Amino acid sequence: MSYQSEDESKIIVALDYSNIQNALNLAKQLNPSLCKLKVGLELYISYGPSIIVELHSLGYKIFLDLKLHDIPNTVMKSCITAAELGVWMLNVHSSGGKNMMSKAMQAIIQGNYKTILLGVTVLTSMDNDELNEIGYSKNISEQVLNMAELCYKSKLNGVVCSAQESKSIKNKFASNFICVCPGIRNADDKINDQKRVMTPALAAKNGADYIVVGRPITNSSDPLESLINIKKEFDESS
Ligand code: C5P
Repeated sequence: MSYQSEDESKIIVALDYSNIQNALNLAKQLNPSLCKLKVGLELYISYGPSIIVELHSLGYKIFLDLKLHDIPNTVMKSCITAAELGVWMLNVHSSGGKNMMSKAMQAIIQGNYKTILLGVTVLTSMDNDELNEIGYSKNISEQVLNMAELCYKSKLNGVVCSAQESKSIKNKFASNFICVCPGIRNADDKINDQKRVMTPALAAKNGADYIVVGRPITNSSDPLESLINIKKEFDESS
């Protein structure tokens, strides 16, 4: 099944706000034909499903980025609840294991939901030192491939990874295994807490299907102009 259409926007703007007015102001400045929106923990914990309803009414497709990580039964039921909200994309943490991910995916398929389910491989804010500190002995690229393999074997639709890893994931698994890549920065942008960053152009060249962009747009003095520039750079290199 194909989840992507050729002319849809591949840019997902991270609405990382805890204030609904700030989130809606940004959504109204942008345009659903130019981007999708990502609702993460901060906004969802503050406003719950009502924020999804509001953003849907503005015409946006929503990536609900809750990075679910719990026992299989809890994650499976939470995925169904999220799919019932009509979200376009949803994710679980691959470190929850194959059993958890398979059950979540089966529930989405059996319920005939259209929601794309992804597994987070290794957070783009982590480097090798941090990974080793939490007890993983592999380096980042090996660990990402290992987690991507678990996601692939669990029949998820794809992964969240850095664009530094998307090419090897596509090569190892399948070209239609979706890679959604946060940690996007231009050369003159602040990196903030991200570690494994890439520019929109290089992300596109490395096979990213979608890029997630937060602060380079949300902190911009002209978010719409920043979005248009990032989209142009990504599309021209795809
Ligand atoms: O502001 P910035 O562009 O760094 O935002 C990146 C967004 O992508 C944040 O909302 C963050 O939660 C999310 N994300 C990430 N790394 C992952 C998964 C999601 O940075 N592995």
